[in-house]
Amino acid sequence: MVEAKILKNGGQWAVDACDALTGPRFSDHPDYLFRPYLGPAHLNAVDQVAAWMGEAGLATRVDGAGNLIGRYGDGARTLIVGSHIDSVRDAGNYDGPLGVMLGIAACAALNAAGRQLPFAIEVYAFGDEEGSRFPAPMLCSRAVAGVLTPGALDVADAQGVGLARALELNGLAMSRFMDARRDPSELLGYVEAHIEQGPVLEAEGLALGVVTAIAAQIRYAARVSGVAGHAGTNAMALRKDALAGAADMMLAIERIAGSGPSDLVGTVGRISAAPGAPNVVPGEVSFTIDLRAGTLDVLEPAEAAVVAGLKAIAVRRGLGLVLDKTHQLPPSPCDLALRAMLSRAVQSVGLTARDIVSGAGHDAMIFSRLTPSAMLFIRCKDGISHNPLESVEAADADLALRALLNLIDQLEAQHA
Ligand code: GLV
Ligand code: MN
Ligand code: MN
Repeated sequence: MVEAKILKNGGQWAVDACDALTGPRFSDHPDYLFRPYLGPAHLNAVDQVAAWMGEAGLATRVDGAGNLIGRYGDGARTLIVGSHIDSVRDAGNYDGPLGVMLGIAACAALNAAGRQLPFAIEVYAFGDEEGSRFPAPMLCSRAVAGVLTPGALDVADAQGVGLARALELNGLAMSRFMDARRDPSELLGYVEAHIEQGPVLEAEGLALGVVTAIAAQIRYAARVSGVAGHAGTNAMALRKDALAGAADMMLAIERIAGSGPSDLVGTVGRISAAPGAPNVVPGEVSFTIDLRAGTLDVLEPAEAAVVAGLKAIAVRRGLGLVLDKTHQLPPSPCDLALRAMLSRAVQSVGLTARDIVSGAGHDAMIFSRLTPSAMLFIRCKDGISHNPLESVEAADADLALRALLNLIDQLEAQHA
């Protein structure tokens, strides 16, 4: 029984549950973990996590955006404990699911103790956080926060399958997507536990950190067009090679990001070239651009420099360039009062409460616009994430669980 395992060692259960969620049913790629939103693996993961939620005493439902929700207790207001169960391509086991499992474990412990709180707790397993399938990330938490413009849903994946069709294949409907929205007056706050995805906590010998703010982020889809042609007959000076141009552009992005402060980062993580033959000069290239920084004062000039730099390269090489901004989020500060409570919770398990900034994006960025939001970071091995080598100690996950339970105790005292 899940509850017995959780009560024995909730941190171990949470880590084991994340590991169990990597079997063949839970990945859409045979060779590595890849669980994009609304794919078959995501659907199977929803079923499995719902079963665990049920065994832990939670009442489950799936909202219009495909988020799985497990509810514990009752009350006029609700504390959301959430994270995501989609993954990047060739992912590690813990980015996302660990926060969901710790939420389930916390509720199982409350349930076993027969605790009745003056508020409900809802554990959210968000369907899309990574943006692995559709061009913009965090579709599902944005639906819950009610910050999606209808145009944001007019998206298709790399195979041309639109969001409406993907929802339909999962028994959902576009017309109900926005029903996922929550009324902020019903919410007490949002808390997310997540692996740090960086090396700071490990370097300082700390198991947990309290997030102060999450860096701003921007994504673009870039399309470069040249002229496809014979690789043998097109003299170098006369060809319009879209891929060589894109390579030039990527180096410019690296240069611009590398010449700013250390929190400024720029990444080209996906590229495709057509027609894709060894003896054809590439005529069309698409690639993604991801830019982040802790403040808009740093991010905005860098974005302007990237856009101007890429346009200049396109002109110099006689290439076409279309830059489509697919995503933009400002820096997201965590709520001061909830952060202070989380710091006390970390101290209650015998640790120093270390403040830390998140360079990675999280659903908490979206929730911070809706309700007081806070994040608890958990040390991960060598700071590695978005990589199958992701690793977290069960003992650290258990400390996170105890800190979450202490935070709930504090909220109970505050709202009694
Ligand atoms: C999500 O992991 C992101 O930071 O892109
Ligand atoms: Mn991630
Ligand atoms: Mn994540």
